Amino acid sequence: MKKILILNGPNLNMLGLREPEIYGNQTLDDIKGLCLEAARPLGAEIDFRQSNHEGELVTWIQEARNNIEGLIINAAAYTHTSVAIHDALKLLDIPIIEVHISDPETREKFRHISYVQPVAADVVKGQGAIGYVQALEKLLKLL
Ligand code: DQA
Repeated sequence: MKKILILNGPNLNMLGLREPEIYGNQTLDDIKGLCLEAARPLGAEIDFRQSNHEGELVTWIQEARNNIEGLIINAAAYTHTSVAIHDALKLLDIPIIEVHISDPETREKFRHISYVQPVAADVVKGQGAIGYVQALEKLLKLL
């Protein structure tokens, strides 16, 4: 089994309630379910987490050095601000896929920069919740 970590940043715990016209009606638990279901036949074991705290995300990324074979990250708003998450991701020598439910590049200008993108092997954006499954498929092809 390939060990995959899926990290979610701030406010993604509010999916379902949060701006459904942008993010849809599925909750983060629904997305976790989609990922677990897709992972089984692909031979992957998923550790799915969310935090509203930048430092906690940084710690989890650092810990991934030891026991994780691939990382999927939706850093949410920290995508556009966090040099700390960028630096932590640079510590990893495993493939990283960036995922976004919406397409930040078609939204406000402040969402156009991504500090995750320079360290990611690929990005899936604007595909809604199913984008997480697409990210998982892309990641497993790299392993
Ligand atoms: C997001 C896009 C970000 O700009 C935003 O801050 C989020 C969610 C997405 O999944 O579309 O919180 O990462």
